[in-house]
Amino acid sequence: MRAQGNTILITGGGSGIGRGLAEALHREGNQVVIAGRRQSVLEETAKANPGMRFLTLDIEDPEAIREFAARVTVEFPALNVLINNAGIMRMENLLAQPDDLGDAEAMVSTNLLGPIRLTAALMPLLRRQEHATIMNVSSGLAFVPLALTPVYSATKAALHSYTCSLRYQLKDTAVEVLEIIPPYVQTDLMGGAEDPRAMPLMDYIAETMELLKTEPTPAEICVKNVHGLRFAESSGRFAAVFQGLNDAFSGS
Ligand SMILES: NC(=O)c1ccc[n+]([C@@H]2O[C@H](COP(=O)([O-])OP(=O)(O)OC[C@H]3O[C@@H](n4cnc5c(N)ncnc54)[C@H](OP(=O)(O)O)[C@@H]3O)[C@@H](O)[C@H]2O)c1
Repeated sequence: MRAQGNTILITGGGSGIGRGLAEALHREGNQVVIAGRRQSVLEETAKANPGMRFLTLDIEDPEAIREFAARVTVEFPALNVLINNAGIMRMENLLAQPDDLGDAEAMVSTNLLGPIRLTAALMPLLRRQEHATIMNVSSGLAFVPLALTPVYSATKAALHSYTCSLRYQLKDTAVEVLEIIPPYVQTDLMGGAEDPRAMPLMDYIAETMELLKTEPTPAEICVKNVHGLRFAESSGRFAAVFQGLNDAFSGS
């Protein structure tokens, strides 16, 4: 990915990892556009970073995604980087949910269908650019599931799989495909903003930005703290890492 001069759309750019990336990429000299549902947090983020733009979007709504992509194509014709970062994470008790699968369905439509739909809607615009990048934000839990958040972990595993296929299908085009794989980071995603077990947000963003500047850009952006989860299976440690992770969070 080019270090500067890009026009970058970041979903969920008004808080947490999305905001951290938006501000860092803005400082590096890129036109950054952030999107999400809460106008107030988007407005506040854009105001704190003069030149940053924002648009509201509910990524659970397929029609809203189509209208949003049409608007982006007109207002930001140079858009060449899409960061699919918006996500939600909810705990689920699989023994007590026969009637209400609302959380499960919301996570599938936000974390998995959202990136798939937005990528499809913006593909014509991205294909028109000389260099373009699609970055999908998955999770270390794509590789070792947290049993407390079964559908969340499953959506991230599916997003990883989709990202591999997307990269392969686009290999002969000017669109590169990257996957950002965060470890547990201090944000409001599930009340972990102050959890000392989570990586401080600014440390996470700094290490991620360094990796993004590596030449050539790695297909997977994995800070050191996520290596244990990302490489659990390939290092033959899956069972031990799965047990350790789930025992550590069983009282959460
Ligand atoms: N923090 C971690 O430990 C961690 C670890 C691994 C992966 N991740 C991933 O990192 C990404 C960012 O999460 P975060 O930790 O930074 O949490 P966060 O602060 O809660 O950010 C999530 C963002 O997604 C947006 N969003 C949620 N639902 C949306 C919808 N329907 N339409 C549009 N935007 C929506 C939210 O904005 P609105 O509410 O305003 O819509 C919010 O800005 C997520 O994909 C998450 O799964 C986080």
